[in-house]
Amino acid sequence: MTQPQKIDNIDKARLPKHIAIIMDGNGRWAQQQGKDRLFGHFHGVESVRSVTEGAAELGVNCLTLYAFSTENWDRPENEVNGLMELLIKTIHGEVPTLNKNNIRLFTIGDTSMLPKEVRGELQLALDKTAQNDGLKLILALSYSSHWEITAAVKNIAEEVQSGKIAIEQISDKVVADHMSTAGFPTLELMIRTGGEHRVSNFLLYQLAYAELYFTDIQWPAYRKEDLFDAIIDFQKRERRFGKTSEQVQSR
Ligand code: FPP
Repeated sequence: MTQPQKIDNIDKARLPKHIAIIMDGNGRWAQQQGKDRLFGHFHGVESVRSVTEGAAELGVNCLTLYAFSTENWDRPENEVNGLMELLIKTIHGEVPTLNKNNIRLFTIGDTSMLPKEVRGELQLALDKTAQNDGLKLILALSYSSHWEITAAVKNIAEEVQSGKIAIEQISDKVVADHMSTAGFPTLELMIRTGGEHRVSNFLLYQLAYAELYFTDIQWPAYRKEDLFDAIIDFQKRERRFGKTSEQVQSR
C-alpha cells in the first residue's frame, strides 16, 4: 500500500491564490557548516526549485519569492556579485524547466538597478515563458515596499498633475492598481524561513489580510513538503477580514 502523502491533506479547492516567501537563512546555514555565505545562496536555488515545483504541482496561482531586496545592495561586494552571477546562471538554466511545467516568470522591483547581464537574461526568460498560463512565478529583485510605495505615489501624483485623474478619484483600487502586484491575485499567505519574525520591507501594502507563517527552517533546507505544511496550517485558520467569527461562519 502506498504511504499517504502530505500533499493529500491539502484541500485543492481552498488553496491560497497567492503565496509570498521571504527566503531567509542562507548565510547562517552556510556559516554553521564553516562555509562562505555564497554557499548558502547556491544551495538556496535547490529550495527555489523544490518549492516552485510543489506550488505548480498543487495548482497555486501565484508565487512571489523575495530574491534580492533594495537593502541587499549594501551587502559586501563579493556577496552581491556572487548573487548576481547566481541569478544569471539560474535564470538562464531554468527556462526549459519553467516551460516544461507551464510556469510564467514575472519580476517586481527596481530592475533598472540590476547589472546589464542580469537584465538581459531576465528579459529573455520573461519573453520565453510569456505564453505559459500555469503558475505565475514572481521574482522580487531589487525590491522593497518603501521603493514600491514611493514609486506608486509619484505615478499617481503625475497622473493628477497631467489631468488624467482627479484627486477625488483616488480610491483604494487606484492605489492598488499602481502597486507592482497589480493584476496578480490578492496575497493570502506569507511565509518567512530562517527563524526571524519580521517582514523586512516586503509587500507591506499587499500583506493587509495575508496570513503570516514563520518557520525556523533555513532556506537551503526548505523543501516543497515544508510549503505543504504551511498551506495545511493556512487551511486551518479562520480568516475574518475584520468581521466576527459568527459572521464568518454564517456565510
Ligand atoms: C536571505 O538569506 C537570502 C537572500 C538575500 C538571497 C536569496 C537568494 C537565493 C535563494 C538564490 C537565488 C534565487 C533565485 C530566485 C534564483 P540571508 O543571506 O539573509 O541569510 P542569513 O539571514 O542567514 O544571513
